[in-house]
Amino acid sequence: MAIPASLQKGLKLPVIAAPMFLVSGPDLVVEACNAGIIGTFPSLNQRTTEGYREWLHDIKARLNPDAAAFGVNHIVHPTNPRLMADMMVSVEEKVPLIITSLGAVRDVVDAVHGYGGVVFHDIANVRHARKAAQAGVDGLILVANGAGGHAGVINPFALVEEVRSFFDGTIILSGCLSTGGDVAAAIMMGADFAYMGTRFISTTESMAQPEYKQMVVEAGASDITYTPAVSGIPANFLTPSLVANGIDPKSLPEHKLDMADEAKAWKTVWSAGQGSAGVRDVLPTAQLVRRLADEFTQACDKFDKKRL
Ligand SMILES: Cc1cc2nc3c(=O)[nH]c(=O)nc-3n(C[C@H](O)[C@H](O)[C@H](O)COP(=O)(O)O)c2cc1C
Repeated sequence: MAIPASLQKGLKLPVIAAPMFLVSGPDLVVEACNAGIIGTFPSLNQRTTEGYREWLHDIKARLNPDAAAFGVNHIVHPTNPRLMADMMVSVEEKVPLIITSLGAVRDVVDAVHGYGGVVFHDIANVRHARKAAQAGVDGLILVANGAGGHAGVINPFALVEEVRSFFDGTIILSGCLSTGGDVAAAIMMGADFAYMGTRFISTTESMAQPEYKQMVVEAGASDITYTPAVSGIPANFLTPSLVANGIDPKSLPEHKLDMADEAKAWKTVWSAGQGSAGVRDVLPTAQLVRRLADEFTQACDKFDKKRL
């Protein structure tokens, strides 16, 4: 299986603008979808379930008839008290793509399939990939080494190869994909979609503060620190942002620092992946998608010329 039929509508490039806590909202989703890639956001970026429903209405009203599909991320874990209520809204509103994190649950998959939706689940290791495949998900998002947010530690080539050996659904590759050439490389490796987070922080429509967008532009791969100190689970953060908050990146504890709740922590210390190396400007999402498409075509042409 490659890309599910319901997600092919309006799709101009096999790219998903990944859901990002405190960063992706309706403006980013609408611009991404209208430009021909899949736009997504975490439902928890809205403070309440009713607010979440309002965002869905807002997005649907602003999508062009030929827009690509959109998706929503739900954290499937007992620590998310909003899960049931938000899922009910997703089912009622028939959200085309549901992205689940942490738990891959058969009931969620069945509920989404019930209205014709598609479920992609994100994993960072092969054990979780097998569990999610057994739960019947349509696609697996392979979060490889260097990704923004809660990144994995496995090399993308190894991860794609191993998961492909037992999973014939859609494979979505995540981690350090920031240019159209990277998208072409992901497809060449056997992925069906490229999943891009960090690149979309530095867009006009992202909800990140201007200083955060600029920090991503200025950061290279070595300006990213992988640590559990901010969130309890290892994640990638911009080193200058740790320093700006008085946290010494050279003496980080192996446990979570006392930074109040998760939202406060992520609002204070900014996350990005090593793919910041490929982010050199802040620009409107529509313009970024056009550039990605051009770079993708150029990379394919270059490859054709290199064939023996
Ligand atoms: C600031 C930030 C917030 C994120 N928040 C979430 C989230 O709420 N849910 C989720 O599933 N993934 C989240 N991620 C991970 C992304 O969805 C995606 O897997 C990752 O950004 C892809 O790697 P890249 O940043 O190298 O492109 C986040 C990533 C970043 C950078």
